[in-house]
Amino acid sequence: DKPLRVAIAGLGTVGTGVIRLLRENAALIEARAGVPIAITAVSARDRSRDRGVDISHIAWEDDMTAMAARDDVDVVVELVGGSDGPALVLARQALGRGKSFVTANKAMVAMHGMELAEAAEAGNAALKFEAAVAGGIPVVKGLREGAAANRIERIYGILNGTCNYILSAMESTGADFAETLQEAQALGYAEADPAFDIDGVDAAHKLAILAAIGFGSRIDFSAVACTGIAAVRAADIAQADVLGYVIRLIGMADMLDGEPGAVGEAKLLQRVRPCLVHKRHPLAHVTGPTNAVVAEGNFSGRLLFQGAGAGDGPTASAVVADLIDLARGDTYSPFSVPTRAMEAVPAADPGGR
Ligand code: HSE
Repeated sequence: DKPLRVAIAGLGTVGTGVIRLLRENAALIEARAGVPIAITAVSARDRSRDRGVDISHIAWEDDMTAMAARDDVDVVVELVGGSDGPALVLARQALGRGKSFVTANKAMVAMHGMELAEAAEAGNAALKFEAAVAGGIPVVKGLREGAAANRIERIYGILNGTCNYILSAMESTGADFAETLQEAQALGYAEADPAFDIDGVDAAHKLAILAAIGFGSRIDFSAVACTGIAAVRAADIAQADVLGYVIRLIGMADMLDGEPGAVGEAKLLQRVRPCLVHKRHPLAHVTGPTNAVVAEGNFSGRLLFQGAGAGDGPTASAVVADLIDLARGDTYSPFSVPTRAMEAVPAADPGGR
């Protein structure tokens, strides 16, 4: 059978992880996809860098946006990042040519997801982004497919591994925020510029995407009230402990409508902030650089999705799962273009943006 031909933009740890995964698990992936998945083109900043994988037989494009125009490419995978710039140009060009687009780029999906979903629908292509939310945890599929029959009442969780590492390490060592952040950077969890992580913006990107999927609303990142963890002190954690709580950075989205299914009446409340979590709640036991998402469905009850929210193996695994869907002909987009009017409530939040 004809292979699914894939171009990859960005060959950092996730991009090379995708190449390794497609090679190492080629037989089982082909069996599940029904056809082989072949990488026909790649693009990255530095051609000569040794990435530990052989890419000598794959076509190289210096300009990654050129991959969208290649006749030997069916699907474009974007692992470059950035909400605007080349990643967005590539997404528009690929979808505009009717090529499906797979991305791990939460910032771009949070800011431009509706436009891209509309472009995908217009071009009979698919926009897939399982890797953009909580890395290897199949929470996009879990919400969109597993909980498809449910009215989702609330979605909340630990959406940033760096913050969760810092808060849970402060809890076990009693150290303060600045010292623990340095440790997180030394271990490679936090970026050299960790602002998006510790200010809660990365979690807000993921929350806005999950809320849109779970509630069938339009993505509204700008309405997320967001407070990060930089002001959390060792003393706050110790005091919470005395009261029977731990502190976690929680992203939470609620529907505030009285009438189920009311069109134009529903209100979506989204916020990211450090929260007290009771020690008996499952999220209190999520420690280290881990993500966990809770969704409450009216028939499913409480669902908990937990696992590695970042890292090359887990993130590559989510990217390739999307490719297998596309090879099988499943172009089901995580959010169909919603028609339901929904008003977002910009939460009054003294610490918010
Ligand atoms: N830096 C993020 C985290 C991973 O710490 O969870 C990618 O969103």
